[in-house]
Amino acid sequence: MFNFLSLLVGALVIWVIKQFISYYISRHVQYPPGPKPKLFIGNALDFPNSQQYEAYVEWGKRYNSGILYASALGNKVLIINKLEDADELLDRRARLYSDRPMIPIVELTGWGGNVALLHYGKSWRLSRKLCQQSFRAEAARDFHPLLLKKTHEMLYRLLVDPDHFDEHSKMMSISVPMITMYGYEVESFEDPCIVAAEESIASGGDLLLPGKSWINTFPILGYVPPWFPGATTRRIAKKAREINRRVQDIPFEFVEKNVAEGTEIPSFVSRFLKRQLEGCASKEEEEAVRNIAWTVYSGASDTMVSATGTFFYAMTIHPEIQRKAQSEIDRVVGTGRLPNLEDRPSLPYIDAIYREVLRFGPPVPMAVAHSLMEDDYYKGYFIPKGTMILPNIWAMTCDESIYPEPLQFKPERFLDANGNLNDDDRVLAYGFGRRICVGKHIGSDTLWIIIALVLASFNIERSKDEFGNEIEVNHDYHDLGIMHHKSKFHCTFVPRSLVVKQLIEEAR
Ligand code: HEM
Repeated sequence: MFNFLSLLVGALVIWVIKQFISYYISRHVQYPPGPKPKLFIGNALDFPNSQQYEAYVEWGKRYNSGILYASALGNKVLIINKLEDADELLDRRARLYSDRPMIPIVELTGWGGNVALLHYGKSWRLSRKLCQQSFRAEAARDFHPLLLKKTHEMLYRLLVDPDHFDEHSKMMSISVPMITMYGYEVESFEDPCIVAAEESIASGGDLLLPGKSWINTFPILGYVPPWFPGATTRRIAKKAREINRRVQDIPFEFVEKNVAEGTEIPSFVSRFLKRQLEGCASKEEEEAVRNIAWTVYSGASDTMVSATGTFFYAMTIHPEIQRKAQSEIDRVVGTGRLPNLEDRPSLPYIDAIYREVLRFGPPVPMAVAHSLMEDDYYKGYFIPKGTMILPNIWAMTCDESIYPEPLQFKPERFLDANGNLNDDDRVLAYGFGRRICVGKHIGSDTLWIIIALVLASFNIERSKDEFGNEIEVNHDYHDLGIMHHKSKFHCTFVPRSLVVKQLIEEAR
């Protein structure tokens, strides 16, 4: 115990010296604009606690700059508000800007294998290669029948139980990754996989956020044994690690068993296991495949919940947009069948709604932080190695010079004068450079088919109270970790016709 305490005191002394040095340097080096740091605490009190993306736009105006710099307790942060700066740093200088920040608690909680958090190196390259093979545009087509099946199931739930539309969208968003990654049919929120995944987020997810654990500021605290008095975080992290293992093992073992018995639904994991049985896969690949499947099911579902929430909300407050979309569907697809992904090239207005949903409400508004691997200079400013890079997607999708009236939901901004899609097809919500979302084609297909099928089937209307008065729509959004979600609001789903009711019943 004595040795440990001396180590702790030693670490504290080194930390104090480091703060003096960085404070001194900060007064003599030309960092990008930002709030003035204070001795010891740097900018700790300046960082916004909520709706960061909006606060950073204000910083941008205050310091008249598209890039902003701040630091606190050893963490250096560069915020990028402008697309041109993101393109230069994250795309053209991707060699330097593609790492992820070092977050000591990540390993302790068992989140270390998450592909989105992996450092830029060998393991990440292997995972990324395996993802590209299965998730690139052409390969993503293999998932279309499953996407369609799950969306049909959601339509049926909306038909028989329209009041719980947000639960149906959550169920859909969870079942898509489970079926595509593992061939696992989720029947209810009580499913053991879902329970374990929720438990995992509840027990340790919080610790990943900045400022939630002292271990991220003083990594040495990670060596404190979980039984040590006061080491609450270590105990929570240990429990989270155990749950995370379970979250990965349950569905993986399910596929192993089904492949052995020949009863599997083809999925990302089952295809890999079959290749492994033929002796064509290494142990490292198995670890990577486990991690990819888990990353997708623990992370991608939230992005879809968020995007679907924005879609339902935008349609509720814009009946005129629904009518336009429905007349396109009726004209191109007809009313005797439901649309499918083959119809996508012929339905530009639906694609414009898809683009506008992700522009208006980017599900991960500050992306996932990148990290700078070497010292760099940009526009005459110094950016030190190890700086955490926060691309403010929200600031870019709400940049008035690119998207006039950015707070209005207007699919027309993605169409030309003839009603064809314009060339603004880069969906910023998927992030940047070499770390851009590797599942963007699946994300795009999933969201598109949800939009097309829901609009073909239902009118989304404002709900009414018991006296027949319209219930006011709640316009708020809230943050959940790095995610941005539409807050609960009321709307109702009215089937467009008797024929459509029958089509939904037949399709499920
Ligand atoms: C609308 C849906 C989605 C949105 C908005 C979204 C957004 C994002 C963003 C912003 C990032 C970080 C990009 C960066 O660091 O610059 C990311 C990373 C990632 N996404 Fe998605 N995502 C979506 C759906 C999906 C789906 C369906 C999958 C899997 C099939 C997926 C898998 C991943 C993975 C594995 C990463 C980590 C990439 C890396 O670090 O190299 N995402 N996503």
